[in-house]
Amino acid sequence: MKFFIDSADVEEIKSLVPTGFVDGVTTNPTLIAQSGRRFEEVIAEICALVPGPVSAEVAALDLEGMLREGRYLAKIASNVTIKVPLTIAGLKACRTLTDEGTLVNVTLCFSAAQALLAAKAGATFISPFIGRLDDVGEIGMNLIHQIVDIYKNYPNLTTQVLAASIRSPLHVIESALAGADVATLPPKTLRQLYQHPLTDKGIDIFLADWKKTGQSIG
Ligand code: E4P
Repeated sequence: MKFFIDSADVEEIKSLVPTGFVDGVTTNPTLIAQSGRRFEEVIAEICALVPGPVSAEVAALDLEGMLREGRYLAKIASNVTIKVPLTIAGLKACRTLTDEGTLVNVTLCFSAAQALLAAKAGATFISPFIGRLDDVGEIGMNLIHQIVDIYKNYPNLTTQVLAASIRSPLHVIESALAGADVATLPPKTLRQLYQHPLTDKGIDIFLADWKKTGQSIG
């Protein structure tokens, strides 16, 4: 499973790259607004830090606007992945941009039917939003299972399932169990994956006992 970081905070991403677990990055208009910085600059800086796919979302809702913005953003770096919303215009833009050789992430997916259409439109990634479904009383993870199962039935569909709107390590574990190709994690969630109080406690105990031996290694 690949891990993307869901953030437009360049310093935060820079701090996580050395972990070796950053396979890509996703941004969205909300994250760009939170950064308080110019969109193109942020995307260019992230693309220079992370060789994997870096999602940059169009703001236009019409096909022509999406294509214009998508082609403009795609010129920033070869790893820019154009994010389009799951609307009929977004799906058409996905097909055109994919045919032009651009990576495309179809976002705001809330149903298996939508995911099937995104795959037929040639999307590189489909982003089902787990947390936002949980927020409205549905079980977001069921959607990941459905999409993974459907795609498995059609090996000619090459779209990767990118579990998005992840809020906890449990979402990551369940996405991995379901067979999602990618999970995009808020920086805090990536850190939570490797932190465990019993690991810390175990280190304290071993260190105290090691000191009693009076030995050193090497
Ligand atoms: C990913 O591409 C999405 O932008 C992101 O995961 C949305 O997460 P949220 O629902 O926590 O805002």
